[in-house]
Amino acid sequence: MRQVMVAGNWKMNGSSDSVKELMAGINAGMGSVTKAEVVVCPPAVYIARVSDAADGTAIKVGSQNICDQDKGAFTGELSGEMLKDVGCEYAIIGHSERRALYAETDDLVAKRFAAARRNGIKPLFCIGETLAEREAGVTNDVCARQIDAVIALEGVEALADGVIAYEPVWAIGTGKVATPEQAQEVHAFIRAKIANLSADVAQGLRILYGGSMNPGNAAELIGQPDIDGGLIGGASLKAEDFLAICMAAE
Ligand code: 13P
Repeated sequence: MRQVMVAGNWKMNGSSDSVKELMAGINAGMGSVTKAEVVVCPPAVYIARVSDAADGTAIKVGSQNICDQDKGAFTGELSGEMLKDVGCEYAIIGHSERRALYAETDDLVAKRFAAARRNGIKPLFCIGETLAEREAGVTNDVCARQIDAVIALEGVEALADGVIAYEPVWAIGTGKVATPEQAQEVHAFIRAKIANLSADVAQGLRILYGGSMNPGNAAELIGQPDIDGGLIGGASLKAEDFLAICMAAE
C-alpha cells in the first residue's frame, strides 16, 4: 500500500508573521489527519523557522529546490547538506516554474535529483507538459523524456527514493484542473513506463497530482487508482484549505 501524501508548495509567498500563522493553523488541525503524509515546502529563508514549528508534529518539511553541487562557489544555491541541517526531508526538483522561467534543463534537473539522493533528501520530482504539448498529443512523450533523464543518470531504482509529481503546466495556478480521467491516464502511463524497467519500483512509487487542486476537487482526483496524493500550490497557503485537502486524501 502506498501512503497517500499531501505536499504544499508555498512558492515565493509569505512573511515571518504569515508563515508562523500558517504553521499554527496547520498544526491545530493535524490531529484529524491520520493517514496522509503531510509536507510543507516554504521559501528557503523560512525553512529553519518552519522546521522549528514542525518539530514534534507529524508535519514534514521540504525545500523548493536543491543545488546539484555539494559545496563551494555556487552563489545563490543551497546544498543538500544545508537543507538537511535545517530540517528538510524532501526537496522539490524540476518544478515547471524552474524549468520555464529559470531555464532548468532535464539534465540539470537529473543532477539535482542525484544531489538530493546523495544527501539523504527525498526528491519530490516534478514533471508535466505544457498546453501546446498536450494539444500536439505529446504529453506522454514529454513525461517520459523528463523521467528518462533521471533514469539515465541514476537508474530506475533511484525513483524509489522519491516521489513523482505530475503537474500539467496548463493546470498550475490557472484554476483549470485536469479532469480525474485526464490525470489518471497520465499517472497510469507513468507507472506502466516505469514498470517496464522495474515492476517493484513502479508498484511502490507514489505519483502525486499537482495543478489547481483544491478542497472541492481533491477527493475525486486522489480517488483515482494511480493518484497517490497532491502537490498543492495556491490552496496550501490557507491552513483551512490545505487541511481540507489532507482530509479529502484520507
Ligand atoms: P497550484 O495549486 O497553485 O495550481 O500550483 C500547483 C503547483 O505548482 C504545485 O507545485
